[in-house]
Amino acid sequence: MSEPRKILVTSALPYANGSIHLGHMLEYIQTDMWVRFQKHRGNQCIYVCADDAHGSAIMLRAEKEGITPEQLIANVQAEHSADFADFLVDFDNFHSTHAEENRELSSQIYLKLRDAGHIAQRSITQYFDPEKKMFLADRFIKGTCPKCGTEDQYGDNCEKCGATYAPTDLKDPKSAISGATPVLKDSQHFFFKLPDFQEMLQAWTRSGTLQDAVANKLSEWLDAGLQQWDISRDAPYFGFEIPGEPGKYFYVWLDAPIGYMASFKNLCDRTPELDFDAFWGKDSTAELYHFIGKDIVNFHALFWPAMLEGAGFRKPTAINVHGYLTVNGQKMSKSRGTFIKARTYLDHLSPEYLRYYYAAKLGRGVDDLDLNLEDFVQKVNSDLVGKVVNIASRCAGFIHKGNAGLLVDNNAAPELTEAFLAAAPGIADAYEARDFARAMRETMALADRANAWIADKAPWSLNKQEGKQDEVQAICATGINLFRQLVIFLKPVLPLLAADAEAFLNVAPLTWNDHTTLLANHQLNEFKPLMTRIDPVKVQAMTDASKEDLTASQTDTGAAAPAGNGELAKDPLSPEIDFDAFAAIDLRVALIVKAEHVEGADKLLRLTLDIGDEQRNVFSGIKSAYPDPSKLDGRLTMMIANLKPRKMKFGISEGMVMAAGPGGEEIYLLSPDSGAKPGQRIK
Ligand code: 2FM
Ligand code: ZN
Repeated sequence: MSEPRKILVTSALPYANGSIHLGHMLEYIQTDMWVRFQKHRGNQCIYVCADDAHGSAIMLRAEKEGITPEQLIANVQAEHSADFADFLVDFDNFHSTHAEENRELSSQIYLKLRDAGHIAQRSITQYFDPEKKMFLADRFIKGTCPKCGTEDQYGDNCEKCGATYAPTDLKDPKSAISGATPVLKDSQHFFFKLPDFQEMLQAWTRSGTLQDAVANKLSEWLDAGLQQWDISRDAPYFGFEIPGEPGKYFYVWLDAPIGYMASFKNLCDRTPELDFDAFWGKDSTAELYHFIGKDIVNFHALFWPAMLEGAGFRKPTAINVHGYLTVNGQKMSKSRGTFIKARTYLDHLSPEYLRYYYAAKLGRGVDDLDLNLEDFVQKVNSDLVGKVVNIASRCAGFIHKGNAGLLVDNNAAPELTEAFLAAAPGIADAYEARDFARAMRETMALADRANAWIADKAPWSLNKQEGKQDEVQAICATGINLFRQLVIFLKPVLPLLAADAEAFLNVAPLTWNDHTTLLANHQLNEFKPLMTRIDPVKVQAMTDASKEDLTASQTDTGAAAPAGNGELAKDPLSPEIDFDAFAAIDLRVALIVKAEHVEGADKLLRLTLDIGDEQRNVFSGIKSAYPDPSKLDGRLTMMIANLKPRKMKFGISEGMVMAAGPGGEEIYLLSPDSGAKPGQRIK
């Protein structure tokens, strides 16, 4: 037997100003399943998390609600903790970044960095709200886009034309907080000298710490050269004051990852056998893993290891990055009812359904995961109820009725129990590699074999025949043992099902190694149904309730989510194409000669396009944004002219026009600058 591993695991810290939704849950469930697997295997694995409680968004939200930030974060922490617990996410500690341990560790790390020469200071000029007397982050400034003239755009980019700019370029800027016209003001800021760690990061990011797609993305940033990172904010700010710098606060992203350490420290301080330094000291032999979404890779794979290195702590063993959640193939949407809060889900459905569905679809990559609600119902009902639980319910009755619940010592399918045993290392490897989808596939393949074997033996027929009772008992004992094996393999994903199965099997909590043994001459407890089918009506009720609760509250509008807040997050890791692939696209200026409705089509407009040397017929799904198509007549747009013609119900579409936006009324056709001529190509 090898020594148990010492492992510390974290999930990204959720912001303390919004509710947890199913996008967040993807990450917490993924991490929890991995942690439970490690514990199941006998490793020491500690899972810590905390609320990310600092920053101006939290300060302003508390003000709006008329409570102190401390009250706000306490309320949210209670809500988050209940959501996690009810989704069976079993943290060893769920703390807060607004805690004494974090203040001490943040100060300590900052002072070590400063004393080692890694902190710079200089004055920067920023917009300042003269009424609120605070500096304004870009998202708190609104004004008119300097490029296209659209009003009410944020300080760093225009939602209409997509231009990016500095807040000082906005015309007629206004503070989004007070409405006042901001003034420019200088202030001293503190910077972490990230370029000091360029070489270390170059090596560290390529040392097996990151998935390839993530390492490749980071290479781009590293090759472009790292910049100093602004780690200070001026008062008023809800956070920790920088030691020796009155009125200056640590930027929320400085103390957030230190919150991982602080949560662990808080746990150590009340757990005598845990030693903080054994996990965080420079020479630690423990493993350290951070599970995060792909939107916050720069903080975790650049800033964070550099801070740790500079302050004399160990660096993470690996950063495990996952993609975003989509629902029914699209970004989560409030209007479609697919922006589902954790609590709304729990009001209607069992947490284990979602845990299983996520497991069945989660690989080790950074691809997005789609929660298709129809597939969800079908898969859970077919796999968990139809395959796994079915084995126990088919066999238990015969043992209770025919042998008073005593499971006999007679293995009727040694080849099958052998096959289950042989499959275990592969399933364990899949879990270890976070390839939960493979672990589930291989487990369900075993369940299929068990069911096929039982169906073949048909104990229900034998039971009606004279003198076949021993055979029936042997078949059912074997079936129950196979079911027990499956429960062992599924326990990290389905801890409640496992607990109920343990009660029925009348056994102590199962561990991974128990799969090498079989029950024999063993008394079972009464069998109660272990899982019921998902009723699609409940799924509909959940999406209906999501439409309601998201119009009723504002809680999800403020914070970017770590795990797939599809409405807010950018996708920094969309697959790259090489130059040749780009150059192969024939992108042209097109004149819309005529735009018209298509009879019988809800979403499409028919566009007649002039692309210089010819006219094209294109069907485009933009009707929701252009209900009066004649308004498009005579306007220029951009089209992909060498897309393979597509036969549609209404005719052949000969290309595609380009538009952006979330959908519905918000679809914006792209236009070239004035002066462009139909048929001109992108160079
Ligand atoms: O993106 C977010 O939601 C952040 N609150 C995650 C912080 S993770 C860690 F660094 F604290
Ligand atoms: Zn614009």
